[in-house]
Parts: sequence; C-alpha cells; structure tokens
Amino acid sequence: METLNRIHTVRERVAAWRAEGARVGLVPTMGNLHDGHLSLVRLALEPADRVVVSVFVNPLQFGPGEDFNTYPRTSERDGELLAREGVDLVFAPTAFEMYPDGVDGTTIVDSPAFSGMLEGHFRPGHFAGVATVVTKLFNIITPDIAVFGDKDYQQLIVIRRLVRDLCLPIEVIGGPIVRERDGLAMSSRNQYLSQAERDHAPQLYRALCAAGKRIVDGERGWEDIETEGMVALTREGFEPDYFSVRRAQDLLPPREGDVEFVVLTAARLGRTRLIDNVRIRLG
Ligand code: PAF
Repeated sequence: METLNRIHTVRERVAAWRAEGARVGLVPTMGNLHDGHLSLVRLALEPADRVVVSVFVNPLQFGPGEDFNTYPRTSERDGELLAREGVDLVFAPTAFEMYPDGVDGTTIVDSPAFSGMLEGHFRPGHFAGVATVVTKLFNIITPDIAVFGDKDYQQLIVIRRLVRDLCLPIEVIGGPIVRERDGLAMSSRNQYLSQAERDHAPQLYRALCAAGKRIVDGERGWEDIETEGMVALTREGFEPDYFSVRRAQDLLPPREGDVEFVVLTAARLGRTRLIDNVRIRLG
C-alpha cells in the first residue's frame, strides 16, 4: 500500500491503473478509522480492482466553534488498518494541497435541495463543504465506484444528487451502519463521550427504533412520532436538534403511499453531538 499526498502523483497512479483496465473504487474518510470505515473499504474492494481511501479532515465542512482543531488525527494507525484490508493507495493531502488559495472564497459545490434541511439547518455550510471536497476528490481520483456510509444518511443523499446533477460517471454505494454491541452507531466522535455518557448513548438508537416500530405498526401521525422522539431524548438527558421522519429517497416529508422511510436524529449528549438514523421499508 502506498500513501501519497500530492494530487499529481495520485493522478499518475490512477492513470497507470486505468491503462491496465482496472475499475477504481474510492472511500472518502476523515481518518480516525473504526470498523464502520473498514466495512466501507470491504464494500469497495468487492467490485473494484483498485481501491483508494482518502484521509482528509476537510476544514470547509466544519462551522465556527465545531471540532475541526480537535478532530482525532491518527494517521499511523489508519495506515496500518488500511494496509491490512488490502487497500492500494491512501491519499492524504494537506489542506494546502486541497485549497492552495485557502478556503475563503473557494469555488463551492452546493445542493440547495438538501443543504438547508435537517443537519444542514443546524450546520449551515456543512453540506456545501462536503459536496465541494467530495467533488474535488472525484475529480482527482476519477473513481468508477465511491462508497459512503448510511450513518451520514443526508450526506449520502446529497452525494447521490451531486453525481446525478453533475453527470459524473460514478456509482455511489451506501454502506450499512455498523453498531457497537449495545446499538450505538460507530463514529469517531464517540470517543468524546465520558464513560457515563457512553453507557447512556445507545438510548439514541432506542428512540429511533421505537419510532420505527410505530411506523411498521401502521402509525402515520408523523408529527406525533417526531414529538415523542424529541421528548424521549430530552427525558434521557440529550439535547436533540431534530428527530424527523422522512421519505428515504429524497428526505422530503412522507406522502400517502410511501413505503420507504428514514427516521433521522441529531442530539447532543454533554459536549458530544451524535447523529443516527434507521430506515424502514414496508411490505
Ligand atoms: O463522512 C465523512 O467522513 C466526510 O464528510 C467526507 C465524506 C470524507 C468528506 O470530507
């Protein structure tokens, strides 16, 4: 496995693979890898002949007061884990390599249909930051396949839309959420939790499952389900930003006849902001 941090050398490697007729897969990450990321890598390794994992903590997707400076950076361990999985190339650029003119005033890719709702409402500019860096990674690596986790479900929807709107010849694959044994979705941010908070954190998933069960049981009072979710989380000591039932395909409010739903939430537990979701398919 090779680690490269310059755009032009990555382009050279990928061009050589393409000359051999290889299908190229990309798994974009911000590093600090856990089993959730590794499951995405395995998903990419199946259809792709060569797999690139990018490791870049993207300053453009963090808002003021968010955890850009403290986001855990564990490049050595990440490299060991990826080498063990059989990844071909790690692309770990510096911020200067990605934004040589700085992030202020840089050209932005945005998906306004989604960037103002749910997560986007509470993190203004976040999805434009994600969409911009992912577009740059797509342009640098030119993958045939790109894998993103279902855990950041709105991000996955934004990227699917971006690929369609910009006519990019890339197949986007969503990887199932990987959970700890007690149900907590794996996330690099879980390590910010104190032990007491960590013990309590699976309540987030339980609230989502309770909402999912109500939908499966035939309930269609979305607002009631959402309010009950907010109340349950608050009672459990969370500070929820949202708890919403949406259509799985486009995150719009459900309509009569819909059969695929996603219940999404974001909530603070102490100083840690957690997000999670469950998907429900009827029939
Ligand atoms: O999901 C992430 O880790 C990031 O948002 C991504 C897709 C790597 C873009 O920086």
